[in-house]
Amino acid sequence: MVAKVLTISNEKGGVGKSFLAVQTAFYAAYQCGCKTLFIDLDSQANASRVLIKNEMVTLSNIKPADLFLTGEERDINPEAEIGGEENSNLQLISAINSKEELISLQENQESELIQMYSNFVEAIGVLKSQFDLIVIDSNPNADIRSNSAVGVADIIISPIQLYTESIQGLEGIVNRVGQLNNTARVYFIPNMVDHSELQVRTAEKLVAMNKDMLLPIHEISVTRNDDQIVIEECELHYGVIKRRNCFAVAQDIGKGVWIVNNNKSGWREIRRVLFTIMEAIDVDKEFSAADEVVFSLEKLKQAHPDKWKRLLRHLWMCGHTFGFTLPGLSQGDVQNLIGLKETSPISLVS
Ligand SMILES: Nc1ncnc2c1ncn2[C@@H]1O[C@H](COP(=O)(O)OP(=O)(O)OP(=O)(O)O)[C@@H](O)[C@H]1O
Ligand SMILES: [Mg+2]
Repeated sequence: MVAKVLTISNEKGGVGKSFLAVQTAFYAAYQCGCKTLFIDLDSQANASRVLIKNEMVTLSNIKPADLFLTGEERDINPEAEIGGEENSNLQLISAINSKEELISLQENQESELIQMYSNFVEAIGVLKSQFDLIVIDSNPNADIRSNSAVGVADIIISPIQLYTESIQGLEGIVNRVGQLNNTARVYFIPNMVDHSELQVRTAEKLVAMNKDMLLPIHEISVTRNDDQIVIEECELHYGVIKRRNCFAVAQDIGKGVWIVNNNKSGWREIRRVLFTIMEAIDVDKEFSAADEVVFSLEKLKQAHPDKWKRLLRHLWMCGHTFGFTLPGLSQGDVQNLIGLKETSPISLVS
């Protein structure tokens, strides 16, 4: 097992970093069955406060600032200390009560900061062998913590807001990431989108200037014509997240957005974004489906030999949205196939 590292980073405050980090971690752990470690490097500890409200999260005994110490000074022990379900898929290195230690890291001399970065790389290397995915939420300033988080990432997601100043700042983010990590893929995801005239204009500019840094969402529509399934490619669009009260509520109660009542449209929108993020991360997870689920998968392959991958991907990304049963499969098979996302690598359908 070697975890992929997802870092959420933007030097602007309040753009939704902690929201997206937490919700991606919930989705990865609870909907995609990834053994996930969440590292909160922000002394404000906003993400930690949300996560500890979730009864399935276990708290690690590692302190986030300790990840920057040398091997002898730190004690990397990924065993959970308290709380949560025994085999929880989501473990938290919490920033609560670590404010001073986290802030004082930056007070070191330049040469010590270099050593601290290599300590952090080593610590993440140790942790990687215990998890499928590590999600790092970083603080809104370019210091040793957020730079290190960018440095170790396989993929970096930067939530942005659709205002002229935010778009002007994107070049700065690209340059900074380029200096710290030249292999990680970077995606900008507009968040708190309200479709005002100004935001629509800014979105058009963003697509014109930075299209290849947006998250492309490839979706299909599925219809049924007698016993024929007809698949059509939808127009390519990019991952954006609307401003929705139910998202703030989900954070407030420490739950995945799919659990909040009256949130059908919010979940329908964001699940496509979260699924596409998981596809981009491409977690290296083992296939461990139960026999009955494997049986449903075989039925799908037999009934739709050249369409099964696209149909299964659609079920994972959007749920059972086409409203009819697939020829050759029962409702139970369709439910099994949706659940298969938890026990299969996403790459099965990509
Ligand atoms: N799409 C959204 N719709 C509604 N509320 C949102 C959305 N995204 C984030 N929020 C809320 O906005 C507030 C700020 O978001 P968040 O704390 O995630 O920002 P941040 O970038 O982590 O801030 P900081 O830079 O201070 O760490 C939170 O209360 C969060 O729940
Ligand atoms: Mg935050």
